Amino acid sequence: MVVYLDHAATSPIRPEVLDTYTRYLTLVGNPSSVHVAGQNVRRALEEAREEIAKAIGCNRNEVIFTSGGTESDNLAIKGLYWQRRNEDASRNLIVSAYTEHHAVIDPIEWLEREQGAQAIWIPVDARGVVDFAWLETFLVENAPRVALISLMWANNETGVVTPISDFTALAERHGIPVHSDAVAALGHIPVKFSESGLSAMSITAHKVGGPVGVGALVVSRQAKLTSLVHGGGQERAMRSGTMNAAGAKAFAHAVILAVARLERHASTLTPLRDRLVAGVLELVSDARFSRGDAPGLPDNAHFTFPGCSGDSLLFLLDRAGICVSNGSACQAGVTAASHVLLAMGRDEAEASGCIRVTLGIDSTESDVDAFLAALPAAHEGARRAGYTTS
Ligand SMILES: Cc1ncc(COP(=O)(O)O)c(C=O)c1O
Repeated sequence: MVVYLDHAATSPIRPEVLDTYTRYLTLVGNPSSVHVAGQNVRRALEEAREEIAKAIGCNRNEVIFTSGGTESDNLAIKGLYWQRRNEDASRNLIVSAYTEHHAVIDPIEWLEREQGAQAIWIPVDARGVVDFAWLETFLVENAPRVALISLMWANNETGVVTPISDFTALAERHGIPVHSDAVAALGHIPVKFSESGLSAMSITAHKVGGPVGVGALVVSRQAKLTSLVHGGGQERAMRSGTMNAAGAKAFAHAVILAVARLERHASTLTPLRDRLVAGVLELVSDARFSRGDAPGLPDNAHFTFPGCSGDSLLFLLDRAGICVSNGSACQAGVTAASHVLLAMGRDEAEASGCIRVTLGIDSTESDVDAFLAALPAAHEGARRAGYTTS
């Protein structure tokens, strides 16, 4: 039996969403065609836009469909940067934090290498909380040179939640647009775009029980951004390409369900998560709950295990039938330490020995029991294997 505790990587598609998805996949027509078939597909697409807008509190015209979180982040960061830079060439600073997902960090670093941008990484504390006071001071002198600020609503590795409205209120005083990657927040905590003060916000379907390959960038009507993809001028000319109406309908259905079950999600998963955290800290005396007492997502439990390689732990847990994640990047078979934990001031060894457990609405007490039952042997095996990065 497999116990799936990696919902933050991708959450299984809900059966009712799968039903919607397959039903709309059979619709024939291009939503840009004027004939009746095309217009049927267009209607489905616009319904989906309306449904998502209602669920996340924005205007329907503000929803720009994309292929997912990565594309949305790229469109927001490059698009806002180019737009602001074109308006005023001296605005080349992009302010963010090094605890962001690579879908945010990498476009910023690319703009730095190729497009004359300068990245400003706001420090974070040992719990992963972004330093608001530091930003306040930084903006006093440097605000006129800032093109945009990008800060995630919740961290996908540690689950730390950012008080987004505090940052948007500060940025607004300086006239700076703020983008937020809300991929890890949506479906776990209330996400209302119109109340957030954001200029742009990224979301994706497959983290909330929808299909992989569809997402959205919510762009406020006041915000301007340069598009990355040119062609047929779809999606307010911000994202050309034939729109994925079936994906959009399934995404909308998943978002509606996720938002409707927010309260149940928190009240069911918080005690389950707390029991899991208490169990881990009891079983492994030197394990550390990564975000400490910082506000966090109800589904997320992230730990470091000193002296262990996260990869070995992951492998041994997997062999015991438990699917979790170590949240660190693994490229070409070489494990890299978690950039998030490094940004939080952990050393290379600690940042390589972590495990992220993320629950879903159907997770049960017995899933947690199975994880806790498998942990001691996996931990012992991983400790014996020790810490290596290659
Ligand atoms: C915080 C965050 N942003 C962006 C992404 C990328 O989203 P997608 O897989 O839809 O491209 C992920 C996925 O892991 C994520 O966790």
